[in-house]
Amino acid sequence: MNVIIVNDYAELSSTAGRMIAGLLHSKPACTLGLATGSTPLGTYQYLVQRYQAGEISLREAQTFNLDEYCGLPRSHPQSYYHFMYQNLFRHVDIRPDNIHIPCTEGDDLQTQCDSYNALLHATPLDLQLLGIGSNGHIGFCEPGTPFDQETFHTRLSESTRQDNQRFFASLDEVPTTAITMGISNILQARSILLIASGKGKAQCIADMIKGPISEQMPASALRLHADVTVIVDRDAAALL
Ligand code: GLP
Repeated sequence: MNVIIVNDYAELSSTAGRMIAGLLHSKPACTLGLATGSTPLGTYQYLVQRYQAGEISLREAQTFNLDEYCGLPRSHPQSYYHFMYQNLFRHVDIRPDNIHIPCTEGDDLQTQCDSYNALLHATPLDLQLLGIGSNGHIGFCEPGTPFDQETFHTRLSESTRQDNQRFFASLDEVPTTAITMGISNILQARSILLIASGKGKAQCIADMIKGPISEQMPASALRLHADVTVIVDRDAAALL
């Protein structure tokens, strides 16, 4: 793992954003795996600014999001579909057909998982952007997820629901399940960029980098991949 420690969230966002912008320059038709959560917001703002300055384009790029809550329509303000449109897609020139987010609408979630998985197999990702949950989850692959897991319908841990409660009016409103890429899908990306900020991530970052490689710490699976960059601010690096 290539671990880059930066001063603060602003530097984290510009450093991650520059890496993605560099890929868009060198390979305009690249395939990008994207993440939600609060951590990538600054990275997306950086990309929007570079786009508005005429310095990058997503016209030829394809995006594949990691995960989506079940039980929320795409129009719900907390759906990851909504998040991505609000924070990135509506501000740039990406073609709607090139945007891929797991669909959790309808009754047949297994078919939705299978079709998203088939899409990922057909379209290898050049770069997968990741945040990390405080319990070490990536996407919504919670502790205990097998490393060979592909796209699946997963149950969120109570700690993840509590972490994400801040985006909802109450804990009861936080979805209990999601569709997520599996760890196997994530590891198939050609390169991986994980970003983490703040003291609340210090323990999971230390465990990911220095602890045992274990299904109890999903992000530790990234140590099995040859091209992983981790960008952390000083607070998230505090226990390294
Ligand atoms: C959610 C997402 C993850 C994300 C995590 C951390 O659970 N499914 O992809 O990494 O939140 O979010 P934050 O960046 O807000 O700490």
